[in-house]
Amino acid sequence: MTTHRILRIALVMSSLTSAGLWAQSPATLTIQLNQPKTAVSPILYGLMTEEINYSYDGGLYAELIRNRTFRSDWTGILNWFLIEKGNSAAKMSIDASTGPSKALTRSARIEVASASTDGPAALLNEGYWGIAVRPNTRYKGSLFAKSKSADPLPLKLALVSDHSQKILATSSITINGTEWKEYNYEMLSGSVAASAENHFELMVDRPATVWLQLVSLFPPTYKGRPNGNRIDIMEKLAAMRPKFLRFPGGNYLEGNRIETRFDWRKTVGPLVDRPTHPTTWNYHSSDGMGLLEFLLWCEDLNMEPLLGVFAGYSLGGQVVKPGPDLEPYVEEALDEIEYVTGGPETKGGALRASHGHPAPFPVRYVEVGNEDNFDRSRSYEGRFAQYYKAIKARYPKIQVIASMPVKDTAADVLDDHYYKRHQEMFQLAKRYDSADRKGPRIFVGEWATREGSPTPNLGAALGDAAFLTGLERNSDIVIMAAYAPLFVNVNPGGMQWSSDLIGYDAMNSYGSPPYYAQVLFSSCLGDHTVETAAGGAGEKFFYSATVSQKANRLCLKLVNGTSLPQPVTLDLKGLSNGAHKARIQTLKADSLRATNTIAHPERVVPVTSNMTVNSQRVEHTMPGYSIQVVDLELK
Ligand code: AHR
Repeated sequence: MTTHRILRIALVMSSLTSAGLWAQSPATLTIQLNQPKTAVSPILYGLMTEEINYSYDGGLYAELIRNRTFRSDWTGILNWFLIEKGNSAAKMSIDASTGPSKALTRSARIEVASASTDGPAALLNEGYWGIAVRPNTRYKGSLFAKSKSADPLPLKLALVSDHSQKILATSSITINGTEWKEYNYEMLSGSVAASAENHFELMVDRPATVWLQLVSLFPPTYKGRPNGNRIDIMEKLAAMRPKFLRFPGGNYLEGNRIETRFDWRKTVGPLVDRPTHPTTWNYHSSDGMGLLEFLLWCEDLNMEPLLGVFAGYSLGGQVVKPGPDLEPYVEEALDEIEYVTGGPETKGGALRASHGHPAPFPVRYVEVGNEDNFDRSRSYEGRFAQYYKAIKARYPKIQVIASMPVKDTAADVLDDHYYKRHQEMFQLAKRYDSADRKGPRIFVGEWATREGSPTPNLGAALGDAAFLTGLERNSDIVIMAAYAPLFVNVNPGGMQWSSDLIGYDAMNSYGSPPYYAQVLFSSCLGDHTVETAAGGAGEKFFYSATVSQKANRLCLKLVNGTSLPQPVTLDLKGLSNGAHKARIQTLKADSLRATNTIAHPERVVPVTSNMTVNSQRVEHTMPGYSIQVVDLELK
């Protein structure tokens, strides 16, 4: 075929498509606005989270210093480097014989043999793939230290540019004495260019021996919380309007071994009393994001906590037998629930109050374990029964979620997980249409269309959106759903699991197309579904129609999973006469692989248009590969 002929065919094809001649066969969607069908759960959309992909350390948790507790391996102290400026000479080592607390029994010992103001000995921390420094910003830090000598020892602290070595913000403290003490400091950056190519330095300008532990530095945090969260990421979560937070996992809850499970008792109270622990995802957790911080995160975003409790099984295959052996772990869970929900008159509530939060947190749902179907000993039936009985005896109102189907106990809710390609998600959109309404209600505690890395693409968003239409339609039984994983640090080595909803580095964050699909879906959700019927549409057309009685609006979700436009006649039965305002939000792209990245964060983002609906029949055409949310005023 000649080039000329190929060009002509291409031109004809493109003009047919743009003229709408090449489109899906027209569909009709009849929506009976005044015929309610089933209730929609008011807490359908929430978040699931765990320490994976540097979700908290190097992610949401705003700490800038990496390895603030000085863990080491045979190469030395991880993420810290000794710099001998000028003619200074110093040694850095781990001292296993001294630390500031029972939890942190070791420390970094810095022995400075010679140093001067012009040539100090410095400890450098590389941060989490750099340290973000912004102009005119206040940074707040603290550290524990003691000196060999009783003489005052000045330390200089600074944020320094990697390239120019210019000091961007600085502070100093004086170590007083030979006993462990906590020191606080602040630094203010000037009119510097925002960048993450910076590091932290701690400098000693004279011969001295000093021990350090828990060296910490925070930028401004969301709502100004001490030990708080990154503002940009919290704002992205707030835009999702999540109603609950499932935490702390996921595999992270279970640990590879029982002793490395999420042991809530070791994650509360002052940071210096937290020993830190290894995670299932091949890196160490600072436990700065401890049980109370999860709860404050809930408070800040108005989410209800959905608490996962360790259930006697860890990923490496260790199982605690149901019966007396399991009893201490059941008690651990009951104590945890009391810490979260108890009034200050209870032991747990008093402990929480002593940590600065006298008001209890309301908890309606507790999940026992995570994916216990992986337990080869098949012990979950017995373990679940024991937890269920104990939780119900003390907290009869709490709904207990099973992490896999159980036969002997009537679980209140069952947690289903799905990780699939988009074609399978299209199939799963019908999964709950025929589900048994007499069994437990469903919590889809983890789900994702896994296409795209590190964050998913538009094809994944189409799979997700199709799946969500099925959840909305069946929200009488599916009461909650949460995507997983939520976060990924996109730097090399940051990811352990691909296709994560929100990506970031030290400086910036971005939402994937599936993130925007969820922002759209949660932006408009009625309190009940209405009778609908679709005719003429292909297999890749998905929809859900919910009506909010309170707000008097229709929330219509439409998904066109094909590359061709989809003409749809919307037949809005029962629409009152007059002009009705509608807002249409569209997420679309020309390719399934279209995506956002840290360098191009807004390639695929929603576009909003407005229209006025004057009659019951609306002729509408959906673009190819598109997700649309129509928010129509009914009054
Ligand atoms: O979301 C990633 C992992 O997938 C979770 O930790 C686990 O529950 C599931 O297998």
